[in-house]
Amino acid sequence: MKVLGHRGYSGEYPENTMLAFQKAFETGCDGVELDVQLSKDGIPVIMHDEAVDRTSDGKGLIKDYTYRELCRFNCSYPDKFKDAFDFQKIPSLEEYLAWMKQVSHTFVTNIELKNSIYYYGGLEKKVIDMVRSFGLEDRIILSSFNNASIVNCKLMAPEIQTGFLIETCIGNPGVYVREQMVDFYHPNLKYLTQEHVTSCMENGIGVNVWTVNEEEDLRKVEAWGVQAAITNFPDRGVKAAKG
Ligand code: G3P
Ligand code: MG
Repeated sequence: MKVLGHRGYSGEYPENTMLAFQKAFETGCDGVELDVQLSKDGIPVIMHDEAVDRTSDGKGLIKDYTYRELCRFNCSYPDKFKDAFDFQKIPSLEEYLAWMKQVSHTFVTNIELKNSIYYYGGLEKKVIDMVRSFGLEDRIILSSFNNASIVNCKLMAPEIQTGFLIETCIGNPGVYVREQMVDFYHPNLKYLTQEHVTSCMENGIGVNVWTVNEEEDLRKVEAWGVQAAITNFPDRGVKAAKG
């Protein structure tokens, strides 16, 4: 089983920052999951929420700020971590991919397109073009709760792996995913059953489940045969998967 740090090593470091990605990498995990939105001037940036309020000292929506303006906000997330960390900038996807390319030849990344609440026009193409420009097509999985957007991605870039994110669950998910020519099912751990994993396996579909933080759950999903566990604690994941 592969282990992916959810928003980086978000259990211990400010989520979706370069610090969280570096710390995830240092655990020896296989890769990370991160969330991408578009700034006002069309730059793909890494942040989970549509608004900057929860994880930075700014206020308002990402789509209303240029990337230059967003860079002033501090994402060291003091509500959760007090003053434990120095200033952390919102990373751009370009900055992240440059780091990923330089840090390892094998580290993988699940880029989640956050285009279910605001349909950021052109987000898919911008992300795909950027992944191709870095030559990272074989180390990326694109996913979204907006399953139509993922079908679009697959049409635009058949060489890049894709996954359908599902908030609750769907019957016989292997057939649902396979019929759309998508590669992975990305279910919520709370609703995942062994039958769902079996359905995926029977249809040649991998399961990348989120968010698996407890060692007991990590061992359970590994025994079920999932491809990857996405966890806030990649250190625990590595221990469960390799120990
Ligand atoms: O991609 C897996 C997981 O991150 C989906 O939910 O809300 O944490 O982005 P969320
Ligand atoms: Mg996510």
